[in-house]
Amino acid sequence: MPRLLLGICGGIAAYKAAELARILILRGAEVRVVMTTNACRFITPLTLEAITQQKVSIDLFEEDISMPHIAMARWPENIVIAPASAQMIAKISHGFADDLLSTICLATQAPITIAPAMNQAMWLNVNTQDNLQRLKSLGVHIIEPDVGVQACGETGPGRLAEPEAIAHECLSRFDNKTLANQRWVITAGPTREAIDPVRYISNHSSGKMGFALAAEAAKAGAEVILISGPTTLATPNSVQRFDVISAEEMLQVCLKQAQKCDVFIGAAAVSDYAPLTSTPHKIKKQTTSMTTNITTSENTNQNSLTLNLCATQDILMQVRQHCCPGFIIGFAAETEKIVEHARGKLHQKQLDMVIANDVLRQDAGFNHDNNEVVLIDSYNTIALPIMSKTQLAKQLVTVINERTQRKWQARNVT
Ligand code: PMT
Repeated sequence: MPRLLLGICGGIAAYKAAELARILILRGAEVRVVMTTNACRFITPLTLEAITQQKVSIDLFEEDISMPHIAMARWPENIVIAPASAQMIAKISHGFADDLLSTICLATQAPITIAPAMNQAMWLNVNTQDNLQRLKSLGVHIIEPDVGVQACGETGPGRLAEPEAIAHECLSRFDNKTLANQRWVITAGPTREAIDPVRYISNHSSGKMGFALAAEAAKAGAEVILISGPTTLATPNSVQRFDVISAEEMLQVCLKQAQKCDVFIGAAAVSDYAPLTSTPHKIKKQTTSMTTNITTSENTNQNSLTLNLCATQDILMQVRQHCCPGFIIGFAAETEKIVEHARGKLHQKQLDMVIANDVLRQDAGFNHDNNEVVLIDSYNTIALPIMSKTQLAKQLVTVINERTQRKWQARNVT
């Protein structure tokens, strides 16, 4: 029987929480309820006690339980807050713990799902949106509110999603997930290597491929860590995200996060070279005294500038060496002899699999919504047709999981 803690915040939508509790119990969940004091102004604890047949908790200092916040943080397999107010979203996104519900959220190891409900202007407010992005990047699952006429008479986004839909999403998180108990670390996006404070070396990666993989792996139940270079993409649900700028920063975060991961995927387009040093001030045009990494070519062309670059460390090789992931996959961005060059990377970087794409194509690859790849490992070369990055990510997650299981089985047999 899945153990679910239902948190209820103050707001007109609180009355729908009673229906939600009823549906969850009918579908086989064991439900305990924590209400904020403001929630009690909209719906009585007695209603929820009658539905759940459990005492409702409200006070951080309840007399009959010692440390209720710790006991209640340990109990659930999942926490759902419905409705989640703008205030509660702000509190848990910044680690505030000044009432029972926010303190449980800070103390728990259980995954948290929130179903926000509030006035449309409060929902659209930049602070609320920032807080939601932060929660997403911490791995909190968000059930978007519905759009429509609100209790205040305004129209827009902010109505609590229907209890049926919330119950469905919550309980589907208990379904048999193929990647349950697996930790996947995925890199995405470009890196930027600073030349001076205003200029950098980078590439055309948008992050779409890596983000799609992160989203699909999370949907399949993996704990997903996404390490992303600069992108404009929103964090997928239930994914923990780390933002980095340079190849060196990406390397350091990868080395920390990839310890004992089951699968590591390098979808990021990491710069192979970076300026030897970055100048502290903007390089002026026609400067004669240049810093060490930049020299003018005096003999040939007075207008030319030479950048001295040094190779960045290879993240995949460092991760292979220091973190021992179960299965390690690289992407290969090629412009010619796609399979031959990608196969070279498979061996040189000691990968379990390489996913090759032709980045010269006009309809796929960098920054497109579609991609066409060839999967290469020591045994097979499989060309997949062009498809959306979401569809491709779904297929890749299945294939990678199969190969990971096969590798473990082979290890256990020998
Ligand atoms: O982000 P999108 O716009 O969706 O585009 C997707 C993509 C084209 C970026 C993606 O599908 C892709 O091909 N990613 C890898 C790009 C790349 O850097 O390829 P590469 O052949 O230069 O590198 C091979 C592998 O080594 C990659 O897994 C890369 O992450 C890794 N690498 C490279 C350099 C380095 N210093 N460390 C690394 O780990």
